[in-house]
Amino acid sequence: MNTALAPAEVGAIRADFPSLEQEVNGHPLAYLDSGATSLKPRQVLDAEREFYERHNSAVHRGAHTLAALATERFEDARATVARFIGAAEDEVVWTSNATEAINLVAYGISAASARGGADAVSLRAGDEIVVTEQEHHANLIPWQELAARTGATLRFIPVDDAGELMLDRLDETITERARVVAFTHVSNVLGSISPVDRIVARAREVGAITVLDACQSVPHMAVDVASLDVDFMAFSGHKMLAPTGIGVLYGRRELLNALPPFLTGGSMITTVTMERAEYLPAPQRFEAGTQRVSQAIALAAAIDYLEAIGMHRIAAHEATLGVRLADGLAAIEGVRMLGPRADAERVGLASVDVAGIHSHDVGQFLDDRGIAARVGHHCAQPLHRRLGVTSSTRASTYIYTTEEEVDRFIEAIADSRDFFGVRP
Ligand SMILES: Cc1ncc(COP(=O)(O)O)c(C=O)c1O
Repeated sequence: MNTALAPAEVGAIRADFPSLEQEVNGHPLAYLDSGATSLKPRQVLDAEREFYERHNSAVHRGAHTLAALATERFEDARATVARFIGAAEDEVVWTSNATEAINLVAYGISAASARGGADAVSLRAGDEIVVTEQEHHANLIPWQELAARTGATLRFIPVDDAGELMLDRLDETITERARVVAFTHVSNVLGSISPVDRIVARAREVGAITVLDACQSVPHMAVDVASLDVDFMAFSGHKMLAPTGIGVLYGRRELLNALPPFLTGGSMITTVTMERAEYLPAPQRFEAGTQRVSQAIALAAAIDYLEAIGMHRIAAHEATLGVRLADGLAAIEGVRMLGPRADAERVGLASVDVAGIHSHDVGQFLDDRGIAARVGHHCAQPLHRRLGVTSSTRASTYIYTTEEEVDRFIEAIADSRDFFGVRP
């Protein structure tokens, strides 16, 4: 069933989120910053607390009962994530967040290159790494650094004045020399959904591996790595109801096992001598040291929570809010929404430039009304520069967001122009 959530269902969901019980500056909190990090429901908080209260123990070490229980729950959580994204369990690597997941791949590639490793994950001078002009810094800087370490060249698929990816440039940007194509599934600034199939098809044509930044998609829609056909995919738990400190790297088994480990130490080895070490296969080869056990278990609880609602229904709910947001903002004079318009493929997220007012002032004005929104460059300076602005104000929705909250945001944006005296 793909029907959007009924108001009563959203009301029931909201009752699970303690953060929503509070007032901010004398107003009920309107939390429109889920793109940065989501709120957490009681079920997830309880799962994390229960682990510490009953099963607290290090995993994959120790023969006692609690250690075995902790290990079982930790690996069950991995199985939950794997099922959720259509991967095998040994293709799911725990990281701290998406940023670490992307860095793991980039460092692995340069380590493999330095050792003359497997072709699929090696780069030489003259090879090309391709990103898009709409990347979050987390999916840009690791590739800049990889290019610097290997002598590869970084290229990018540009966006046009309207903030649309210029797909007519795909073939000339992803050339026969491309070895890695890294791109975002959903832009954290524009809310637009990338045409994964077209980009992956071109990458496959030239034999490049693909890395998908799924930070803004996995929490909000059904995502299946097998049908997307990407080689690597990264996302963060904290944007999908789970605590901070847990992220996921999906990787194709053969590619993961071709990558040297990113971090080394305990729990990722088979045999160690004073001279050298043999590493376990993925995922353990990438999970050195004491793991984020409570966070992984809480992420599994978050997935259970999301699946009980249904990812298709969540996507439908947020798409409806996204259209309302985009239509409302488009009607305000002097306000420019960045990126594609309401009828494009987009999620429930919109960033605006309010003419004559710095985004930090807009953010302060919104906060005075109890509205939490994100201001600044949202870790996407090149994209803002391309669109001719230095910063913007972003509203991003989630399962608990109501139409009334979206309307409050639109009204406040309109009123900010009067407040700061910038109406013509
Ligand atoms: C599109 C995108 N990529 C990457 C990241 C980085 O996520 P994290 O800071 O959790 O590693 C974010 C977070 O805002 C994001 O929105």
